Amino acid sequence: MALIVVASGKGGVTKTTTAYALAAALRELEEAPFLLDLDPGASLTENAGLIADGTHALDLLEGRGSLESLSAATIDDVPLIPGTADLLAAAGDRGQLIAWAERLRALAETQLLIIDTAQGLGLPATRAALLAADYIVVPMQAEPAVIKRSYPDVLALLRLFRADDELRARFPLNPSFLFVLTKHNSRLGLTRHELDKLAREGVQIAAYVPSGVAAAESCLSGKSVVTYAPRSPVAQGYRALARTLIAAMNARKLEVAS
Ligand SMILES: Nc1ncnc2c1ncn2[C@@H]1O[C@H](COP(=O)(O)OP(=O)(O)O)[C@@H](O)[C@H]1O
Ligand SMILES: [Mg+2]
Repeated sequence: MALIVVASGKGGVTKTTTAYALAAALRELEEAPFLLDLDPGASLTENAGLIADGTHALDLLEGRGSLESLSAATIDDVPLIPGTADLLAAAGDRGQLIAWAERLRALAETQLLIIDTAQGLGLPATRAALLAADYIVVPMQAEPAVIKRSYPDVLALLRLFRADDELRARFPLNPSFLFVLTKHNSRLGLTRHELDKLAREGVQIAAYVPSGVAAAESCLSGKSVVTYAPRSPVAQGYRALARTLIAAMNARKLEVAS
């Protein structure tokens, strides 16, 4: 299957909202994803109505249990492995980075796993996830301050990984990027300006998710916006992202088979 990592160099860009809306939209399309909360702040876990009082995410990375045994709740029928503040205490040495990334790749052999990450790219768990990723979903808004830090930081980190002989030998390191424009408002002049700039930089937007109150409200409902407001334009935007992702996964399968 595949490892999908939602990440950005910039905080507060709708990573968590995107992670579980994408999971719910994939579930609607008969996929069976798992959600893994690798944010020590555990907002995804809290949105599911759980208190992050175990060490599930860390246990998963360290091989002390399976996706099934460590999932503690579901959001929209998607099993969730809760986040833990203990991720902050990780040593973050090279051995750990490799071991965690190898563990994530092993899980993704047979399962579809969607990972929500913490703010920024500095946390060891975030780096391990990006090192192992098949798909990197980068949510962003059409604002200069967001765009400057969102995807360029992720690309810079991947270049660092690729420049490392040992990492290149152990990991495929060729993730596909899915850029999602969220809180989108096509009527803003700034939006058009920033979209033109992105296009010139070669960034293709995989899906547009409009700004909408349903997204903010859904956080309090224990559901993703896809099931909280199924007919909303926000939900439709995430369904479009899920379809694009499935098409990309099918294309990869064909590549591997040929
Ligand atoms: N499409 C949207 N329209 C309006 N607000 C949104 C939308 N998507 C997410 N939000 C709100 O934006 C804020 C940040 O989202 P969140 O997913 O927590 O970001 P991150 O995980 O990157 O910190 C939250 O208050 C969320 O409810
Ligand atoms: Mg978050």
